[in-house]
Amino acid sequence: MDQIVNVEEFQELAKRALPKMYFDFYNGGAEDQHTLKENVEAFRRIMFRPRVLVDVSKIDMSTSILGYPISAPIMIAPTGNHKLAHPKGLFSLCFITCISGFGILWFDCLFMLGETATAKAAAACNTIMIVSYMSSCTIEEIASSCYAVRFLQLYVYKRRDVTAQMVKRAEKAGFKAIVLTVDVPKLGRREKDIKNKMIPPKLKNFEGAFSMEVRPNKGSGVEAFTSRAFDSSLSWKDIEWLRSITELPILIKGILTHEDALKAVEAGVDGIVVSNHGGRQLDYSPATITVLEEIVQAVGGSIPVFFDGGVRRGTDVFKALALGAKAVLIGRPIVYGLAAKGEDGVKKVIEMIKNEFEITMALSGCPTIADITRNHVRTENEKLH
Ligand code: FNR
Repeated sequence: MDQIVNVEEFQELAKRALPKMYFDFYNGGAEDQHTLKENVEAFRRIMFRPRVLVDVSKIDMSTSILGYPISAPIMIAPTGNHKLAHPKGLFSLCFITCISGFGILWFDCLFMLGETATAKAAAACNTIMIVSYMSSCTIEEIASSCYAVRFLQLYVYKRRDVTAQMVKRAEKAGFKAIVLTVDVPKLGRREKDIKNKMIPPKLKNFEGAFSMEVRPNKGSGVEAFTSRAFDSSLSWKDIEWLRSITELPILIKGILTHEDALKAVEAGVDGIVVSNHGGRQLDYSPATITVLEEIVQAVGGSIPVFFDGGVRRGTDVFKALALGAKAVLIGRPIVYGLAAKGEDGVKKVIEMIKNEFEITMALSGCPTIADITRNHVRTENEKLH
């Protein structure tokens, strides 16, 4: 594992480890995949304005999210179906002991699969995991596998009772916030999934609630399931409905304009996640880093603004913070780590990005998160002074 030095290398290892259908599912985006590529490329067009001769002998990356302290402003984005990336348990320890001449074979089976492995890595790195509504382990299994702070990402099903039940279960299992994803009234056209006839696994969280059968050989099974189950009539008034069924803080994920950011503030949510779903929904929506500042300015500090899309380096984390994000969420790199090396892979991905972020802070002259300012970066539209 010491040989792996960046996220790109984990992506390559994940490609080798996974069946093509699953790698394409994790890696792909919508249609021409323009937004998917732009999310990463747009970061490359932002340059630093580093300040020197600042005492950076101690760097403090810690921050706090909705009152929960974490080691760095880097959280785990909700991504579904982690067992597809990490299906095997570790039959790891096998002791043979001899008592009175009898050999006893003793297997210690460590079944940390899928999201439970990711959650353990989140706990080890002292960060927050946003668990996907489409997780392959139940939310109770994830909760009991680790002590990480967890938020539950929510989609709203046509069967509102099923969604409401899930919120209640999350409260009971100690989840600390609800992250309502609002950019999937219908699934984006993910051509790789259509070609591969991607079949999603059955979701244990909803077993018995309704049929999750999808007909094989009929294009994307993910699309078929989504159009059957998701409520595409969801609208701003439903934030009130969500508020009426839970006391937990509510974040809205999938905001890309200042108009919607203002509506979110009006609706009384506790935070926004600027996101284009990692380029998996509306192709040719803007790279998220290019709209972050507009949204931060609209919100004017009234609620925290989080960010995701294309974060692959610690420098990207710094750029998002300089443009006003409170913290970033990481999507695909986590799944690459999980597919390549299980729980240790996820830990390594987070630690690598954290280390890169720490160095970026030092080389920019920022010993604490509060020291990172808009003046530390230059976007492509800004002239050189
Ligand atoms: C996602 N994303 C996502 N978002 C969400 O709200 N609920 C979900 O279940 C999923 N599932 C999911 C699966 C996979 C395989 C991917 C790649 C993404 C979107 C995710 O939360 C996040 O917005 C993006 O992944 C961020 O972009 P990067 O970090 O992958 O570039």
